[in-house]
Amino acid sequence: MVEEVEEEASAEFSFPPSDPVLYKDIKEAGKERIKTSIEELNPVFGGGVVLGSLVLIGGEPGIGKSTLLLQMSRDFALQGEKVLYVSGEESLEQVKIRGERLGLRNGNLYFLAETNLERIISHAEKLNPRVLILDSVQAVFSSKLSSSPGTISQVREAANQVFRFAKKGQVSSFLIGHITKEGSLAGPKSLEHMVDVVLYFEGERDHSYRVLRALKNRFGPVSELALFEMGAKGLKAISNPSAFFLKERPTEEAGSVVVSTIKGSRPLLAEIQALVSSTLFAGNPRRMTIGLDHFRVAMLLAIVEKKMGFSFSGEDIYINVAGGLSLDEPATDLGVIASVVSCLKNRVIPQDVVVFGEVGLSGEIRSVSQPLARVKEAESLGFKTVIMPQGNLSHLEKEDLSEINLQGAKNIKQALGIIF
Ligand SMILES: Nc1ncnc2c1ncn2[C@@H]1O[C@H](COP(=O)(O)OP(=O)(O)OP(=O)(O)O)[C@@H](O)[C@H]1O
Ligand SMILES: [Mg+2]
Repeated sequence: MVEEVEEEASAEFSFPPSDPVLYKDIKEAGKERIKTSIEELNPVFGGGVVLGSLVLIGGEPGIGKSTLLLQMSRDFALQGEKVLYVSGEESLEQVKIRGERLGLRNGNLYFLAETNLERIISHAEKLNPRVLILDSVQAVFSSKLSSSPGTISQVREAANQVFRFAKKGQVSSFLIGHITKEGSLAGPKSLEHMVDVVLYFEGERDHSYRVLRALKNRFGPVSELALFEMGAKGLKAISNPSAFFLKERPTEEAGSVVVSTIKGSRPLLAEIQALVSSTLFAGNPRRMTIGLDHFRVAMLLAIVEKKMGFSFSGEDIYINVAGGLSLDEPATDLGVIASVVSCLKNRVIPQDVVVFGEVGLSGEIRSVSQPLARVKEAESLGFKTVIMPQGNLSHLEKEDLSEINLQGAKNIKQALGIIF
């Protein structure tokens, strides 16, 4: 429990007072966008950063938030936009070290090491930038409030002041927020409803890739995401994610299968691996999944037992998505089943096969969305055969897919027959 001292309601989170306006007299906004030169990044913002929008970027400590924003600042500055980067956590010397690493050059890029909110806003008003970055919202404090930086009232006040500054001068503003898995979500989470765009920057500690995804966007869809790799020169967009996640795939090993899934709006090929081994815990075998929904996998195993006559009661089953990815789409069902059966029967799934399809409770394979995108992704990476829902095949009849062999299946029995 944390004590929060009640403060005088200093500023309500709202626009300045105004009068009712006729709809047709409202000026249209939200059309002007500034783009970054990292092509993969623009779709996440719905096609570039809208002028005057307030963006919250959350992520775990050390994930690369400052790096990303510094790279974006560099891009904006090189396009001639005036950028003010406020660093509340690091000294200018530290920022310089990162800047050198990222190859920062001249440009209209200003830095300010300051934690007092009022002073930050007054500097910003004098400088009048087009882009303002506040790193981080937990590090700054308003002298109007007596609570310490990072408390909910301070974090809200910071967002509030930046919000008004952004809307008044049409300044695209970014707030960086720290979020930890365990719980201290309260600060930045409480800002989500106030800002225009909420992005989360995620990654696995042991992997070099990072995912930036939109959780909310008032100017575009939230289905888009961008993949990056963290390296010595900063974040680099991964332009071919499928190849990235498949590059260490074992060949000639049972239990591994490639699925074609949709992440955001883009297709992605990923490897599902299963390990089936006799259990030491009779009557209570282990079921472990990493990167897949545990309950869905349990259901799929039950379907296989019922429809194919296999018994898993004496087997521990481990299922993993390679590379630390997480897949949350029913279209991966058939892949899960194929990998488990492959390992159980010790039969290798040919290397050039890709599968996708949702599996229903009676073992039927159901159509999924965007079959063409999934097939094309497989084709472009040199796969030769796709095993997919029969119901999706008719959508692909008119397409030119002569390079790849499409096999439709109505149920899991048929699909496993084709695969093996
Ligand atoms: N020379 C380097 N080569 C490769 N990666 C590096 C190098 N220097 C730093 N990094 C990576 O950059 C990460 C830190 O990036 P950054 O400071 O942008 O993160 P952040 O999210 O802003 O962290 P904080 O929570 O401290 O503000 C490190 O965790 C590390 O993975
Ligand atoms: Mg940082």
